[in-house]
Amino acid sequence: MKPIKVGLLGIGTVGSGTFNVLKRNQEEITRRAGRAIQIAMVADLNVERARELTGGECEVVNDANLVVSNPEIDIVIELIGGYGIAKDLVMKAISNGKHVVTANKALLATHGNEIFKAAQEKGVMVAFEAAVAGGIPIIKALREGLTANRIQWVAGIINGTTNFILSEMRDKGLDFDVVLKEAQRLGYAEADPTFDIEGVDAAHKATIMSAIAFGIPVQFDKAHVEGITKLQADDIRYAEQLGYRIKLLGITKRTSNGIELRVHPTLIPEKRLIANVEGAMNAVLVHGDAVGATLYYGKGAGSEPTASAVIADLVDITRLATADPEHRVPHLAFQANALANTPILPMSEITTSYYLRMNVADQPGVLADVTRILADSSISIDAMLQ
Ligand code: HSE
Repeated sequence: MKPIKVGLLGIGTVGSGTFNVLKRNQEEITRRAGRAIQIAMVADLNVERARELTGGECEVVNDANLVVSNPEIDIVIELIGGYGIAKDLVMKAISNGKHVVTANKALLATHGNEIFKAAQEKGVMVAFEAAVAGGIPIIKALREGLTANRIQWVAGIINGTTNFILSEMRDKGLDFDVVLKEAQRLGYAEADPTFDIEGVDAAHKATIMSAIAFGIPVQFDKAHVEGITKLQADDIRYAEQLGYRIKLLGITKRTSNGIELRVHPTLIPEKRLIANVEGAMNAVLVHGDAVGATLYYGKGAGSEPTASAVIADLVDITRLATADPEHRVPHLAFQANALANTPILPMSEITTSYYLRMNVADQPGVLADVTRILADSSISIDAMLQ
């Protein structure tokens, strides 16, 4: 079967990650999707850099319109960001009958209703796993894995930049500005970091999760949004003295009167798992009536973690065309005719860490004997208590 053709709009941090992971894991991804997925065209204003990154393996243009109107392209990945040109391109791609994959939470939180309506009418998919919590498959968990539940609330650390800032300020006593610069350097922050530190980015993500959790339209304009810019080192210190950590949480909750949708700094008891989510990591807690609380943890930003979510969406869309209608996702994730014969190793062939407890005679040379026996088998001792 010929490859499914993908057009990539924007080859920055996430775009280059997507290109690289798709190339590196091509063989396994094809076995899962049932068809090769090929980035056939890339649009970026920096054509030179795009050519360098793609090594001449696909057509590079500087006009994204050429991608969304190319009849050869089946799926468009939008990684431009923002709501201006990105919205026009997504709408054009949909009206040209193309599926869309996007990481653009700002776009979906503000114009999602219009975009999803257009996609519904045209019979195409708009997939957005990468828009919320980067590499964590939270959209899939909420929309599919937890589908039996009446979701009661969702609460998450869904902005890596602010979590990184709060962690570094607490651990290293660094100033806000210094840590923000570092977060930008590491590629966590949005192009405009105000969106991160003022809680807007987290509110975009919480808005999307709220819609999926409770079956309501996306309503970013109704969200309460409060960032971390008013926090001072003293607040972090006092919270610690009281046994709490300060975290910026995105919260959406069902109540008898309606839905809460809010982003603000919160005090979390330091023993809670989510209070120990540090640095740029993300974590989302979902409470369903049947399952209780579930926790999803991982990298919420960065090149390849976000690419992981983008490619998951590409595979989902590709499977629409490759799986038989009753088995859209293969039973064992890989297409039935693409299972490998890789052997399962016996325990005796597995190298890992062990804990040994020994009762030995209290006489000279016993420890030397034990260590010699281990050394003869190339086993290194990490720690020992006598
Ligand atoms: N600026 C975002 C963050 C990137 O810090 O989490 C991923 O959405």
